[in-house]
Amino acid sequence: MPNATATATAPVPGVPPATAGACAAFTLRTLSPALGAEVVGLDLSRPLEPATVAELRAAWLQHLVLRFRGQALTDPQLLAVSRHLGELDPPGPNPYGAPFNPAHPEINVISNLREGDRPLGNLGDGEAVWHQDMTYIDHPPMASMLYAIEVPPSGGDTYWANLHLALESMPAGLRRRIEGRSAVHDSTYNSAGIMRRGMKDVTDPREAPGARHPLIVVHPDTGRETLLLGRRRNGYILGLSLAESEALLDELWAHACQPQFAFRQEWKVGDVILWDNRSTLHRRDSFDAASRRRMHRTQIKGAALRPAA
Ligand code: OGA
Ligand code: MN
Repeated sequence: MPNATATATAPVPGVPPATAGACAAFTLRTLSPALGAEVVGLDLSRPLEPATVAELRAAWLQHLVLRFRGQALTDPQLLAVSRHLGELDPPGPNPYGAPFNPAHPEINVISNLREGDRPLGNLGDGEAVWHQDMTYIDHPPMASMLYAIEVPPSGGDTYWANLHLALESMPAGLRRRIEGRSAVHDSTYNSAGIMRRGMKDVTDPREAPGARHPLIVVHPDTGRETLLLGRRRNGYILGLSLAESEALLDELWAHACQPQFAFRQEWKVGDVILWDNRSTLHRRDSFDAASRRRMHRTQIKGAALRPAA
């Protein structure tokens, strides 16, 4: 594996090493000390060999974020690549009522573009706050994939944070306060602060609709422990007073969102990013409303998230 570089992300017991092997169809380059690797030398528009898919999957589980540059994909090709990881998970409830990509409703569109009054994609041009995708359902997606078709000249960078690392480096006292506890993951608002379709305004987090998950879970594919935070707004730790829950959540989020746990992605057209949604948070910078940003997106169904022992 001459071209593979080491990463701070530890190898995972029971998962084959994520450095591309001697016969691998690609090589790996570390993107940040905390997480992320670039997959070099793979054209995702071509069919992938089962051995390549297995190597990609191992790399994804180890590095949590994989970046592929210089890709040119049709929607069916994006769907074919995504399906290698598992069953596609359709987009969450669209705030505007109709799929953004009617020919391929499994593909979500993330864009600030509009046709008259009608948005052509989700999330607009504002900041998207730190979050995990759709943890407000019982079985949140295991993976999400974003393919950049148009990117602004500046702004709109996306960041991912490693929640294994955040948990491992958490002060023992803080960890003890969340062990065995679960939180409510509010389904009312998306990461751009837009109310999801069919929802009512919620101001008391104790009344928020959405799934309950343990705060420390076992990663279903690797068995590693990870912190699970979802999103901050309307979060609530069950069994605490609202004030205690707010204070503890503020501490947890401040810890998890530190820059040493994160990787920053400055997008180029043709970038594809695949992330592990169980063990990473992500957020996006705002960008100039007059510039164009357009991405096609898929996600893969995940399993229930069980508490750590
Ligand atoms: C997403 C998301 C951020 C971005 O697609 O889940 O949060 O950079 N996107 O557009
Ligand atoms: Mn997201």
